[in-house]
Amino acid sequence: MINSDILINNKTPFYYYDIDLLNRTLEYIQSEANKYNFNIHYAIKANSNTKILKHISSFGFGADCVSANEIEQSIQCGFNPNSIVYAGVGKADWEIELAINNNIQCFNCESIPEIEIINEIALKKNKKVDIAIRINPNIDAKTHKYITTGIEDSKFGINFNEIDAVLETIKKLKNLNLIGLHFHIGSQISDMNIFKDLCIRINEIHKIINDKGILLKSINVGGGLGVDYDNPENNIPDFKSYFSIFNQYLNKVKGQSIHFELGRSIVANCGTLISKVLYIKESANKKFAILDAGMNDLLRPALYNAKHKILNLSSKDKLEKYDIVGPVCESSDSFGKDIMINKASRNNYIAIKSTGAYGESMASRYNLRNLTNVVFSDVNHI
Ligand code: LLP
Repeated sequence: MINSDILINNKTPFYYYDIDLLNRTLEYIQSEANKYNFNIHYAIKANSNTKILKHISSFGFGADCVSANEIEQSIQCGFNPNSIVYAGVGKADWEIELAINNNIQCFNCESIPEIEIINEIALKKNKKVDIAIRINPNIDAKTHKYITTGIEDSKFGINFNEIDAVLETIKKLKNLNLIGLHFHIGSQISDMNIFKDLCIRINEIHKIINDKGILLKSINVGGGLGVDYDNPENNIPDFKSYFSIFNQYLNKVKGQSIHFELGRSIVANCGTLISKVLYIKESANKKFAILDAGMNDLLRPALYNAKHKILNLSSKDKLEKYDIVGPVCESSDSFGKDIMINKASRNNYIAIKSTGAYGESMASRYNLRNLTNVVFSDVNHI
């Protein structure tokens, strides 16, 4: 629970991070993943706050990065460069160079032209670099269309029907080692059967590649495990079932390592956006609670129509219906329509739950608003 001292002593809006919950989540992941020797890479994009990164790296996890700046920040925060995997459809030359200079573990490659450029830069540096091919398995993750990535027409990954051309290209390039395959089919996946389908598809693809005489050192299954946004009190996702599906359905090959890139499921629940009511505004048919937090602080509702549980921390009065909106000059700057919260008035504290993932990391200074403050549960703010 967020105590009243924290509310009173910090300027809203702010992200509040429950470090105890983050630690418990990390311990649980570690114990479940260790059962099967699975390797976890934290997807930095979900939350790249330096203190959060230091906590996660202290558990010995690797990092999954999608830009050179993420690579630098994760190294500065204690991640071992040799545990960093690097994905993304548009890696710029300077970013590739920085990744090679830091001897990262592996490039997850998304196109033939990218593979050729990595080889060219590695050649100039007289280095040999490890790469994996990101394959688009054509599985519908049945999640929001903006975060579905594994279907055929998505910009991500290489379609499997191009695999021969990709393998031919790699064979000719002397400064690359093909070490593995990479997959990521989407985010906020709540149906565990989709992960089972992914395993079955990976086995098929793996076998076809093996039959060509190519042995792979690693399989990276990506991230995507969803969280229960409706019930933030169910605050640690079911990592036990999740890892056991991969253990059960993914064919095991001796000496091969299995990698996961988890973002949301690690950090979503430990974050809460705390805001204050500026005004209650009534129109003919609506009551608006206007907050001092906006879409620049938390973009998910405006961008994906995402629903986060919203609570009034300052009132026990009867429930009333509000459109809960921010101050930004956009109609999409809304956290929810017709939301029931305890009767609200000016200066009430409002909590927007499960915002530790893709909250602070997607914040901006739109309307020249300040970047959102951050408060940690384990720091005395008084
Ligand atoms: N690996 C790759 C290659 C990815 O693209 C992503 C997320 C992950 C791992 C981590 O996925 P996770 O475990 O967090 O589901 N901003 C959106 C989510 C975008 C996800 C992008 N890729 C949101 O707020 O819902």
